Amino acid sequence: MSELAWWQRGVIYQVYPRSFQDSNGDGIGDLSGISARLEYVAALGVDAVWISPIYPSPMADFGYDVADYCNIDPMFGTLDGFKQLMGHAHRLGLKVLLDFVPNHSSNRHPWFEESRSSRDNPKRDWYLWRDPSPDGGPPNNWLSRMGGSAWEWDEVTGQYYYHAFLREQPDLNWRNPQVRRAMDQVLRFWLDLGVDGFRVDVLWLLIKDAQFRDNPPNPGYLPGEPDHHRLLQTYTEDQPDVHELVRSMRATLDEYGERVLIGEIYLTVPQLVKYYGVNGEGAHMPFNFQLLSARWNAENIARMIRDYDVALPEYAWPNWVLGNHDNPRVASRVGAAQARVAAVLLLTLRGTPTLYYGDEIGMTDGYIASDQIQDPAELRQPGICQGRDPERTPMQWDGSLPNAGFTEGKPWLPIATATSVREQDGDMASMLSLYRRLLSLRRGSAALVRGTIENVVAEGDVLTYERRYGNQCLFIALNMGADAATVQSHAGMVLLSTVTTRIGDAFVQGANLLAASEAVIVIVDSPS
Ligand code: GLC
Ligand code: CA
Repeated sequence: MSELAWWQRGVIYQVYPRSFQDSNGDGIGDLSGISARLEYVAALGVDAVWISPIYPSPMADFGYDVADYCNIDPMFGTLDGFKQLMGHAHRLGLKVLLDFVPNHSSNRHPWFEESRSSRDNPKRDWYLWRDPSPDGGPPNNWLSRMGGSAWEWDEVTGQYYYHAFLREQPDLNWRNPQVRRAMDQVLRFWLDLGVDGFRVDVLWLLIKDAQFRDNPPNPGYLPGEPDHHRLLQTYTEDQPDVHELVRSMRATLDEYGERVLIGEIYLTVPQLVKYYGVNGEGAHMPFNFQLLSARWNAENIARMIRDYDVALPEYAWPNWVLGNHDNPRVASRVGAAQARVAAVLLLTLRGTPTLYYGDEIGMTDGYIASDQIQDPAELRQPGICQGRDPERTPMQWDGSLPNAGFTEGKPWLPIATATSVREQDGDMASMLSLYRRLLSLRRGSAALVRGTIENVVAEGDVLTYERRYGNQCLFIALNMGADAATVQSHAGMVLLSTVTTRIGDAFVQGANLLAASEAVIVIVDSPS
């Protein structure tokens, strides 16, 4: 088996920078804060930190509206501060990944300001400008993912511009070669500084139908769903031309040695795997988000694992994401007991795991009172859009009141729950200890890092599978139910269990008992 790249061996840890650690009392996390917590991150046992956007931004979408792709927002720090953070991370053996947001800029980006200034401005064609339809309304029926029409009327030049998200986030025109060149230079700017790779924002939306055809109605639309679900995204997402763009980003990264290109893509598995590119010259890892919305039962998860494994082309490296800043936290999705099972699942599946900050201490979604809502998506679609603030609350470092060691000031979002890193630190039964054990076990196990996944089976509430490499076999059993259950196993020894007292126990050939919500990793004595 060929040598694996670091991003294949490693585990990615996502930091939402506003919420990790504040260092100056303004209630918003920053780069000095992240830097001060890197020892914690390294000791946790992960390999790379992906930091959500830290570029200068009016923060209409908390940094996903970039006003300068090659600098740092003063709220977060400075470019020098970023270089220091990266140096610090690298000394600790951590890779640093940035969030690249190429689909849209801020409406305050100088490119857009020029583009909107006149119809014959050289940057006019850098964005998507269209005349009104004959009735004077928007050029077509495309809808914004933040609610309402995706077209914004601009008085100055008498045309509409397209925005897949907020009107403050105009979409760039990726059919324009100058845009491609400018964005390529952005990648090179950060690669030259030593950044280890990128998570590319909304990669599957990058290019739109050249003819701007109307999207067809969605026959499956249910009232109460977000507005844009009224239409199928036939002409606004996953266009065939996108793959050529992915390939060219990848080619740029390849010039720099071992860097990683990850794509944010919410699509079905058959569509998703196309983003690996023909022969694997696309994204290294199109994010696999299936666990974020999976019905949490053994049969469904088993099917998901098997189907994904089968759908992957042979050159494609798998990956799994358990949480992120756009979806409810795992502990809230599946409950505290099953969140421990989910941790074992994430770190024993085949492929690179991505872990969301705070999930390692079992943080739950925070309660956000209506007058505390920050998320623009929720503010603009009240009652319809499930807000994203609950999963973005500050990291809980210690039990200090009222702000859990996150800030000396008033945190931009309230603290979610009482638990903390400090409280869980020395407690062998804590979620944090479970994650540390899992990460260290995974790091030392060829079967977990590079082995095959086989015999993925659901029986009742119990999901089992094997990870095999050479003559080593690990048997993993997850009880996804709230009752004790038996599981058929080979003889072996329990390397890890969510029930800590069981570690080192024997598993017999035949039936073994699992406690409610117990997950075990068993090293099989004599694998066949
Ligand atoms: C991605 C980000 C999300 C953001 C959107 C627009 O989905 O993860 O937070 O709102 O893109 O940039
Ligand atoms: Ca701060």
